[in-house]
Amino acid sequence: MPLKPVRLEPIAFCPLLVGNWKMNGLGSAVAEAREVAEALRAEPVRARVAICAPATLIERLARAVKGSALIIGGEDVHPEASGAFTGDVSAAMLADAGARMVIVGHSERRQAYGETNALVAHKAMAALRGGLEPIICVGETLAEREGGHALDVVCRQARGSAPLASDGMAFSLAYEPIWAIGGGQIPTRNQIEEMHGALREVLIEMFGVPGGVVPILYGGSVDQGSVANVLKAREVGGALIGRASLSATEFLSIVRAAE
Ligand code: PGA
Repeated sequence: MPLKPVRLEPIAFCPLLVGNWKMNGLGSAVAEAREVAEALRAEPVRARVAICAPATLIERLARAVKGSALIIGGEDVHPEASGAFTGDVSAAMLADAGARMVIVGHSERRQAYGETNALVAHKAMAALRGGLEPIICVGETLAEREGGHALDVVCRQARGSAPLASDGMAFSLAYEPIWAIGGGQIPTRNQIEEMHGALREVLIEMFGVPGGVVPILYGGSVDQGSVANVLKAREVGGALIGRASLSATEFLSIVRAAE
């Protein structure tokens, strides 16, 4: 008798939507986060929603959104736990202030401060050790894309920047083509799927089965009009949103369009 085929139910997909405020936001910006938190309380969504903000705001934001589903995160972290590093902030400090996530290796830091893959990997490890969920950014320049090297460059970055061991702790990867950041130009669905598929292979090669479920976010000019399409692309597990996350109204319209 032929075996009855087993029907596999698709795993519930819960996208991760992360706002990246960059070097924006004074005390008055706390109201924006509060508005997002209150909207999520009134109308729960299936996505995990986070705002990564300047270090000076984290404690105030965490306090303002306490008890809501909104996650607060940092935008960078020092690879060491403590010490003589004037001006820097450790993972424990971020966690102590109320952060639960942190962006590492954003292209703006790689380009402006010469951050290498090795440094980014150390930062990711420091975040994990400090109890934070790192979002590790990778992405190619326009010249690398036009020269046909995008896949090579980005996969090399991912291999070099992923934490050496995740010990079952959660992290995500964010593919952010540098030419798409802040510019309104967004890659085609094919370009996103090709890159995310390659990154998934890297993650499985590095971490085995758990690498199959590490969220791979897309970032670069995501807005209300593009988010649904971006999230429909294969292997896209969420979005990293810069400019459009600064206003609660705009960020919430993205969160709702992602449903
Ligand atoms: P953008 O920025 O959404 O303004 O393009 C994304 C990012 O840099 O994380």
